[in-house]
Amino acid sequence: MKRIIAFAAALWLVAAAHAAGKRIIEITTDDVSWIMMVNERDELTVLHFGGRIADPEPLLAWRSYRHADYGTDRMACPTAGGRNFRQPALRMTHADGDMNTELAYRSHAVERMADGVTRTSVELVDRKDAVTVTMVYTAYERENVITAHCEIFNGGRKPLRLHDFYSATLPVKASKYLLTHFYGSWAREMQVDRTLLTHGMKSIETRKGVRTTHTENPSFMLSLDTETFDENCGEVIAGALAWTGNFRINFEVDEFDLLSITGGINPYASEYELAGGERFVTPDMILTYSAEGAGGASRNLHDWARSHGVWNPSQVRPTLLNSWEGAYFDFTTETLLRMVDDAADMGLEMFVLDDGWFGREFPRNDSRAGLGDWCVNVAKLPEGIDSVARYAHGKGLKFGIWIEPEMINEKSELYRKHPDWVVQAPGREKTKIRNQWLLDLSNPAVQDFVFGVFDSTMQLSPHIDYVKWDANRHVESAGSEWLPDGRQSHFWIDYVRGFYAVLERIRAKYPDVVVQSCASGGGRVDYGALKYFDEVWTSDNTEALSRVFIQYGTNMIYPALVTGAHVSAVPNHQTGNSTPLKFRFDVASSGRLGMELQPQNMTGRERDFARRAVESYSMYRDLIASGDLYRIASPYDPDGLCALMYVSKDKSRAVVFAYCLKYRSRTLKTQLRLHGLARDRKYAVRELNVDKSRYWGDGRVLGGDLLVEKGFNPDLYKIYDSGVYYLEAQ
Ligand code: GLA
Repeated sequence: MKRIIAFAAALWLVAAAHAAGKRIIEITTDDVSWIMMVNERDELTVLHFGGRIADPEPLLAWRSYRHADYGTDRMACPTAGGRNFRQPALRMTHADGDMNTELAYRSHAVERMADGVTRTSVELVDRKDAVTVTMVYTAYERENVITAHCEIFNGGRKPLRLHDFYSATLPVKASKYLLTHFYGSWAREMQVDRTLLTHGMKSIETRKGVRTTHTENPSFMLSLDTETFDENCGEVIAGALAWTGNFRINFEVDEFDLLSITGGINPYASEYELAGGERFVTPDMILTYSAEGAGGASRNLHDWARSHGVWNPSQVRPTLLNSWEGAYFDFTTETLLRMVDDAADMGLEMFVLDDGWFGREFPRNDSRAGLGDWCVNVAKLPEGIDSVARYAHGKGLKFGIWIEPEMINEKSELYRKHPDWVVQAPGREKTKIRNQWLLDLSNPAVQDFVFGVFDSTMQLSPHIDYVKWDANRHVESAGSEWLPDGRQSHFWIDYVRGFYAVLERIRAKYPDVVVQSCASGGGRVDYGALKYFDEVWTSDNTEALSRVFIQYGTNMIYPALVTGAHVSAVPNHQTGNSTPLKFRFDVASSGRLGMELQPQNMTGRERDFARRAVESYSMYRDLIASGDLYRIASPYDPDGLCALMYVSKDKSRAVVFAYCLKYRSRTLKTQLRLHGLARDRKYAVRELNVDKSRYWGDGRVLGGDLLVEKGFNPDLYKIYDSGVYYLEAQ
């Protein structure tokens, strides 16, 4: 965001102050229009969100769907009060006790933020009190994404109380609304849920504060005018909220069959006192529209994320060996050095030392002690971290390390010093999850400490290239010793703001360190975190069959560039299931590939295979990182086949993955129609990670038109059969 703001100097249009009758305010990208109108009552209303309309001016004459004295129109920022009867985006109690807010248009301004990025700010004012609401819409032209948030300013002298403070409202009119959203918990993140919306309210939300995406993910897809989900056809609106805390997205279908989507910070237990002169800035809602089905909507979001939404998008995310499932807490320097050797031997690019390396008086030899005491456990690693990191660098590998800086064990020197730093409600039980408590990041002293953990860890060695930032519990019995009694309800929001303040400082000092967001696996997968993190740990569930579903859901919204995917041992430590090594590699290779096992337990043949799969990954990893994703077959379809492909932007190369999720019968042939290829080009097709291909087209040159029309039909029928196919235009 900062980079964009730097360009903001180029202010290229400021529209007239003070409304002079009806007017159109248009926010556009290459293919999408978000059209608003200031009506005769000076209200800001939404007329359209969808395909581009070149000339919206005639819409000034558009007749409302409703009788003039029946409630409010489709407000861009519906408030509680006045005639509004829909879910308010903004609800407050004014200083004098008045519960009504009625916003009128005052002015708007359009700024060119960067090449292809335009920001429109619309200022609304309450008709009675000195409250200003600025709606901020940023259009990313090439990616067809528009982000929206609002800023609430108390221009009075006395404080007011905010109850609801959503980022944006999007009214949509269609005959049917099919909602896809993503629920899940530890080790089963981003499961797809789908429902046809009926009249009334449907909400997705979390109230966990931390590990917020271990309930629902703050994202959705909405297929319009249909009861069936389609990857390639039809109109789809997709959205995500950039907030790493409690969120809520409401889908309300009213008595006029109008759907209003209202998303933002969850108002749950979060009443916020806004002092005179204070401004409350909500997080961005990220919205896109595609007429090319869900696939088109995903590609828009991925393009946006890779240009604007994730930290350091052009940095190559290294392949890696992580020590966790291979060693857990049980290692010596010798164990780690052997792992480094093995990682190098298999062609991986980095070794990551996970949990268990720290603690002095309370060494971290299991989950019961040590969190908070971020100094090297010299009993375990007498030569320190640098010796391992240096060794890795000597072998041509990068080095990464695990921290969990927001957490504290009771058995820690930190707890002895700062018991007041723990999130707690005085007089109530401080419940533990995984034997740990949460530090209160609303407290600036705790923010300093958490920044210090990162900073001092980085000082352990000049060879640290990567940090895995974990967070293994959520909030219970919320309360802060730091916040005054009357402001306890600020806790949920101030925690997240404190978290971001720390990350700002870290990124100012360490812009190039690759930092992974982990929260017991995929508990912090959101575009708020990804502003600061390079990638996420998609799930603690490393079992390949489960991963097909988890990665399918995650990559609907988040690009494969950021989704860590590791090959682990069998039987799998989470599920007990055993899958072939090739299947495990073929699944992990569709994300940011890594391994997480003890290589010493692998046979020679397994290591040979790993070496080969890691090498073949290097042929197409740039497609995973920056190509267009096409989902060909859903793992949720009953025929038990999942397939996806990534195509380079210039359509000259592609990689196709296919996975058999059940026995599909020898008599049934797989047919996969490919997408995104140039019909008029010819592609050399090569199957990877096999000695003997089970596809007749392997080694041939086939037309793009043939691959799109007829597709290909590899011989995949047994459970865990899988294939990776590399296509290169001739
Ligand atoms: C969490 C993470 C794991 C691992 C452990 C270490 O569960 O998700 O990947 O880092 O913590 O304790």
